[in-house]
Amino acid sequence: MPVLQSRNLYKDFGAVEVLKDINLSIEAGEFLVLVGPSGCGKSTLLNIVAGLETASAGDILIDGQIVNDVAPKDRDIAMVFQSYALYPTMTVEKNITFGMRVRNVPRREREEALQRVAKLLHIEHLLRRKPSQLSGGQRQRVAMGRALVRRPKLFLFDEPLSNLDAKLRAQMRGEIKQLHKRLGATIVYVTHDQTEAMSLATRIAVMSDGKIVQLGAPQDLYDRPNSIFVADFIGSPAMNFISGRIQARDAKPVFVADHDGAPLALPVDHYDFGGDFGGGVEGDLRDGQELILGIRPEYVTSGAANHHGAVSVDFELVPSLMETNGFDQHIVFEFCGAELVGRFSSKESVEVGRPHRVHLDLSEISLFHAESKVRL
Ligand SMILES: Nc1ncnc2c1ncn2[C@@H]1O[C@H](COP(=O)(O)OP(=O)(O)OP(=O)(O)O)[C@@H](O)[C@H]1O
Ligand SMILES: [Mg+2]
Repeated sequence: MPVLQSRNLYKDFGAVEVLKDINLSIEAGEFLVLVGPSGCGKSTLLNIVAGLETASAGDILIDGQIVNDVAPKDRDIAMVFQSYALYPTMTVEKNITFGMRVRNVPRREREEALQRVAKLLHIEHLLRRKPSQLSGGQRQRVAMGRALVRRPKLFLFDEPLSNLDAKLRAQMRGEIKQLHKRLGATIVYVTHDQTEAMSLATRIAVMSDGKIVQLGAPQDLYDRPNSIFVADFIGSPAMNFISGRIQARDAKPVFVADHDGAPLALPVDHYDFGGDFGGGVEGDLRDGQELILGIRPEYVTSGAANHHGAVSVDFELVPSLMETNGFDQHIVFEFCGAELVGRFSSKESVEVGRPHRVHLDLSEISLFHAESKVRL
């Protein structure tokens, strides 16, 4: 039985519809990551699950029981808020152990739990301070501590690492992953961070404008985004999009775009169009129909490297911008009237303005309808 379900959940604040028919089912031990642009309703959804906000319509079920009218404290949920929500007059120690005191957990057990999370979160030296005497990142860790001393049915995390520096963030990410494994905890986790979403999630739900637009395993979303919105949202640097049209050539579909004023054809007959190939353009597609081809930067590489077997093309392109991160370099080319970002080894010598041989591996492309932005 799922630990958490939301059924036909709606929420409006006055005239504004913030959640529109949210249906989710989360099994024990799942790590569901919610991503989506600011204001799409992630925190509102978490707040309704926690019981801090009431739904306008629909149900929340925990362990199969409707909990719409159950008080937050009786839902057996631990939540870390985006805004920390620490008790300002209490020390860190009291903040963390408050819930256990309320539930009359014996002192010894409280003390053990406190030490365990303080160590985990590297806040042992802060236990006697008040929240006002802490940095943003330290407050955030205390808020985590308050949740992690518990063993609830469900953890809700609302951007719990957003204020930590990169190193601590990576470290905490590792800790959370370990924790999830060790405890088999069930977690719903909101983040803006790609790496966090990809590396923590067993499933990712992408939200847009109050709806879940795609739900699936991280790699599935990455490889087979169902829309341009998801394709653009998952992955960094973002997927490249090339506008063009589908045409039949020698009974094979090709994708034709305009580059430097001339038509340029990219082979797409290997693509799974989902319909039968009837000798012309496939399925519902019209000849000449406008499509958008998506290709991730890691499939745009230096032509100097060795590639075998893939469906691929090479072009001489002029780099207009480059950005290195030590490990690899992201090179921007002008291609078919748009920017094409490639991922090159940092060892590769590339110069802005000097033409470079660029290799496009087309084996993992995505094709979208230009009008609906939906994947083919
Ligand atoms: N109490 C409220 N009254 C009116 N509108 C609200 C209220 N709380 C949230 N909203 C609106 O609901 C929408 C969703 O807000 P929510 O906080 O759920 O977004 P979010 O996805 O968590 O965004 P972020 O990534 O910025 O945290 C926003 O447009 C917000 O302005
Ligand atoms: Mg939020």
